[in-house]
Amino acid sequence: MSLIYQPAEDSFLICDAVAKLKNLNNKKILEMGSGSGVIAEALINNHVDEKNLTLVDINLEAIKNLKQKFPKSKVVRSDLFKKIHGKFDLIIFNPPYLPTDKKEDKESKLATAGGKIGSEIINRFLKQANTYLEKNGKIILLTSSLTKRIDWQDYEKKILEEKKIFFEELVVWELTKY
Ligand SMILES: C[S@@+](CC[C@H](N)C(=O)[O-])C[C@H]1O[C@@H](n2cnc3c(N)ncnc32)[C@H](O)[C@@H]1O
Repeated sequence: MSLIYQPAEDSFLICDAVAKLKNLNNKKILEMGSGSGVIAEALINNHVDEKNLTLVDINLEAIKNLKQKFPKSKVVRSDLFKKIHGKFDLIIFNPPYLPTDKKEDKESKLATAGGKIGSEIINRFLKQANTYLEKNGKIILLTSSLTKRIDWQDYEKKILEEKKIFFEELVVWELTKY
């Protein structure tokens, strides 16, 4: 059984960004790595209709919990976009971004470790997400100063939120494709 990621500073920073977004009603939104659903809740609090949400996670426990919490949303167990069809106006991801710590247990690795250098999942995500965006669609992605070698592809980047926590700096980006 894998533990569900408990909302932390990163989750709350991306929720702050989501709370400031405008004109979200009728937008088709996908949240990658939904975990506990804290970002989905922030979206619903910002006038997003639950039925316009697609919530994705690789963790079966998270999926079971999300299905109960958000019965009107589409909840999909998938490794990134593997099981996803269609296009979205907004794709949001608070990804596992830390370099793998060999001492960390398997459950906690799933939620926090983004690969050997921390950016492997982010880079896979950035490569795939492009084809799932509607024209003028946007990505909201969190990264950390601890995440090395992010391959930003051709996305145009804008900073929505930044926060220094004692050993790292978190940034919430808005990405648009050219
Ligand atoms: C840092 S947690 C964020 C959880 C939640 N969105 C939040 O902000 O609190 C990262 C989430 O990504 C999920 N995840 C990890 N690898 C994934 C993958 N390859 N495809 C989909 N989800 C993945 C984890 O199970 C975890 O729920």
